[in-house]
Amino acid sequence: MNIILIGFRGTGKTTIGKILAQRLGKEFIDTDEYLEQKQGKTIKDIFAEGGEKLFREIEAQIVAEVCLVDDRVIATGGGVILREENVRRLRKNGIIIFLDADVDTLHKRIHEDAQTQRKRPNLTNLSAYEEIKYLLASRRPLYDRVADFVINTTRLSKKDTASKIIAFIHIYVKDLRKG
Ligand code: S3P
Repeated sequence: MNIILIGFRGTGKTTIGKILAQRLGKEFIDTDEYLEQKQGKTIKDIFAEGGEKLFREIEAQIVAEVCLVDDRVIATGGGVILREENVRRLRKNGIIIFLDADVDTLHKRIHEDAQTQRKRPNLTNLSAYEEIKYLLASRRPLYDRVADFVINTTRLSKKDTASKIIAFIHIYVKDLRKG
């Protein structure tokens, strides 16, 4: 069973994913990092070349490949839920955890993250703050709909978030065993 982390940019999917992988003794993979490695280009370069459309095509191929392996912690890009085929594949052998946070917190985290320039090209013509507000409002129902577990990370440390996720996984796995 894979543990899949979904959620908006800045919710801590990569950092929390690494903590989870370490604590659970599983391998960790970040679909954005793997995508960049495989393409030999940054996400920003891909957007510059073919826009969001090209990026979503490549992202879907990466998701399909990554889901073939079992028993890993997988951190996904914030827009992975936009394609139904991605969700279907991730679901097949994975528990889906939605990391949520409020707009002010995400704005602060994204702004302070050194990876933002490379990994997070603009997705709209809005200001950074308005873009988060607008996209989060439109995506939150999608994240919610596909998640097995939702956790609000706004006031939680990354370690505490990981602990809550692990507690949930234990209950989830026990329930599965009971049938
Ligand atoms: C995106 C989020 C990014 C990356 C790409 C698109 C999005 O990943 O996949 O820039 O549409 O929200 P992170 O969520 O890891 O920042």
